[in-house]
Amino acid sequence: MPRAAGENEVEFATARDQARADLIAGLTRPLAGISPKYFYDAQGSKLFEAICALDEYYPTRCEHEIFRLHGPAIAEAVGQGTALIDLGAGNCEKAASLLGILHPRIYVPVDISVGFLHQSVAPLRHAFPRLAIHPVGADFSESLILPAFLQAQPHKLFFYPGSSLGNFSPVQALRFLRNIREHGGDLLIGLDRVKEISVLESAYNDALGVTAAFNLNSLRHVNQILNTDFNLANWSHHAFFNAAQNRIEMHLRAHRACCVTWPGGVREFAAGDSIHTENSYKFTLESATELLHRAGFTQITSWTDPLQNFLVCHARTD
Ligand code: TRP
Repeated sequence: MPRAAGENEVEFATARDQARADLIAGLTRPLAGISPKYFYDAQGSKLFEAICALDEYYPTRCEHEIFRLHGPAIAEAVGQGTALIDLGAGNCEKAASLLGILHPRIYVPVDISVGFLHQSVAPLRHAFPRLAIHPVGADFSESLILPAFLQAQPHKLFFYPGSSLGNFSPVQALRFLRNIREHGGDLLIGLDRVKEISVLESAYNDALGVTAAFNLNSLRHVNQILNTDFNLANWSHHAFFNAAQNRIEMHLRAHRACCVTWPGGVREFAAGDSIHTENSYKFTLESATELLHRAGFTQITSWTDPLQNFLVCHARTD
C-alpha cells in the first residue's frame, strides 16, 4: 500500500510520545527505573563497543572463542542456506566472523540504533559482495515483528548473542523465545554462566569506568528525549550480583539529595536512592536448557569455552 505523505513523521511522533510516557512511568515508580533501551543512542553504542574490549568483560571474548573453537560443529548443527537474523546486531562484528562459517543465504541485521547499523553494514557489503544484506531498524524488546519479506523465508536462524536474553526478566525472556518459535525459526544464542561472584562483579565494574560511563549516558539520552534536567555529577554507577535472583543489577545512585524535573513533572531523590537501569541474568547449562524447552524448542546442542564462562546453544524444533 502506498504510504500517505507525512506518515513517517506521524509514526515518529507517536514513538517519541510512547518513549516519553514510558520514561515518566519509570521515573515516578516508588523504585525508579529507566529501561535499558535508553543506553543505546550513538554515544551509548560506541561505549558498549568499548565495554566489549575491556579486560574485565570476559563474555565477548569467551563467546568469540566458542565460535573459533567449535565453528565447524556449530555450522553442522545450523545447516546450510539460512536466513540469518542478527538480533541487536550493533557493529555487526560478531556476525561478520560467523558469515564465513555459517554461509547464510541472506543476512538481516536488526538494531534499535539504526544510524549505527547502516554504518556497520557498509564494510560487510564489500567483504561479502554476493550475500544479500537487508538491515532492519527495529526495537524488538516488546515484540518481534518481522518485515514481510522475512516471514516468507524458509530456513530462518535467529542469532541472539552476547547474553542479551539475560537482560530480559525471566517472564519476558520466555515470551521472547516463544515469539521466535512462533516465527518458525531456529535459534543460535549466547548466554553467560553463573560463576564466581568476583569475576561477575568486576565485569560490570571495570577499572577504566567505561561501564559507569555507559550507565550514566542513559541520563544524557533521557535528558534529550524527555527534556529532563538530570545533572550527571549527582549520580554514580552501582553494579552488584544479586545471588538470590542469579543476576547482575545495574543502578544509578544519587550521592546527594536532588530533584529531577521534566515538562509537567518532578521526582525527588534522597542521597542513596537509586534508579534501576538493567539486570543481566546468568544461566547454568540446566537453567538454559530448561528455558529453551519451555519455550518449545526440542533439540538443543550447547558449546562452552575452555574456562567454562559462557554458553552458546543451538535450539531447533523438529
Ligand atoms: N547482555 C550483555 C550483559 O548483560 C551485554 C550488556 C548489556 C552489558 N547491557 C550491559 C554489559 C551493560 C555491560 C553493561 O553482559
